[in-house]
Amino acid sequence: MGLDEIKTRLAKEAELILQPRLLQQWSVRHHGAVLPAIDRVTARPPLIIFAGDVGTGKTTLAETFADAIARRHRIGVRVKRLSLRTRGSGAVGEMTRLIGTAFDVLIDQARAAAGRRPVVLIIDEADALAQSREAAQMHHEDRAGVNALIRGISQVATERLPVLVIMCTNRADALDPAIRRRAAAEFDFARPNDEQRAAVLTAVFDGVGLTEREITDLVALTGPNGRGYGYTYSDLVDRVLASACLAAYPDRPLTAELIAQQIEAHPPTRPFTERR
Ligand SMILES: Nc1ncnc2c1ncn2[C@@H]1O[C@H](COP(=O)(O)OP(=O)(O)OP(=O)(O)O)[C@@H](O)[C@H]1O
Ligand SMILES: [Mg+2]
Repeated sequence: MGLDEIKTRLAKEAELILQPRLLQQWSVRHHGAVLPAIDRVTARPPLIIFAGDVGTGKTTLAETFADAIARRHRIGVRVKRLSLRTRGSGAVGEMTRLIGTAFDVLIDQARAAAGRRPVVLIIDEADALAQSREAAQMHHEDRAGVNALIRGISQVATERLPVLVIMCTNRADALDPAIRRRAAAEFDFARPNDEQRAAVLTAVFDGVGLTEREITDLVALTGPNGRGYGYTYSDLVDRVLASACLAAYPDRPLTAELIAQQIEAHPPTRPFTERR
């Protein structure tokens, strides 16, 4: 919810990275030839960065957006996932091996499918790359993980394989500048504003019969309220919703008052930067 603008832009970017011939066809249709500019656009590294606050839908969107592309073009898109923070122990060598192996598998599959089955690789918690460099003592090992990633992405770009890499991070600033610079696009995810929280609350409490006035009050309760940050999407969709249902169950119905109590009992997640 609330990600329509990002979704529209992402769909275009992803579609053109995974199916570059679509851009060529567009050029022929409107200019009578494949413009030289097309080559530049399709030669960009197949990397998109999802950056932003916790619980704002980065991982979820990365895991699901390919479905729409697959349906529209009636193709099979494979989605693979690499989580650096959960699988790497923090050793730089291990990070390099993980990334290297992931790209080997990916490139083999993309070659074998001869362009017919695009692959999306999600590198979740990508800031672990930067963290490992902060912790690393040895000079030449510092950049190993980053280099492995750049190498993999460059290889995909050179061979023009239908592979798209999505990096998700809470700390775009901590990503290596060389990686950020290479990204075809960077999307910023933020906490929901008033309007977006109203939409989320209306959707998740659909059927409860909340009045507009009650929604407005809940929107205010879940806003920054002097804290400097309001509720995240996941705070609302997962925590507030579940705790309200559990509080009502088994004897009471859901009401605006009960939801408000649960909101007050569950403050919003602190922004990532403040946790450090
Ligand atoms: N835009 C959204 N609309 C609806 N639900 C959302 C949205 N964003 C997040 N959620 C809910 O929050 C949960 C967590 O979202 P997700 O893991 O995608 O966030 P994230 O941005 O990857 O967070 P983190 O930075 O902590 O990894 C989702 O499973 C979903 O229930
Ligand atoms: Mg995530």
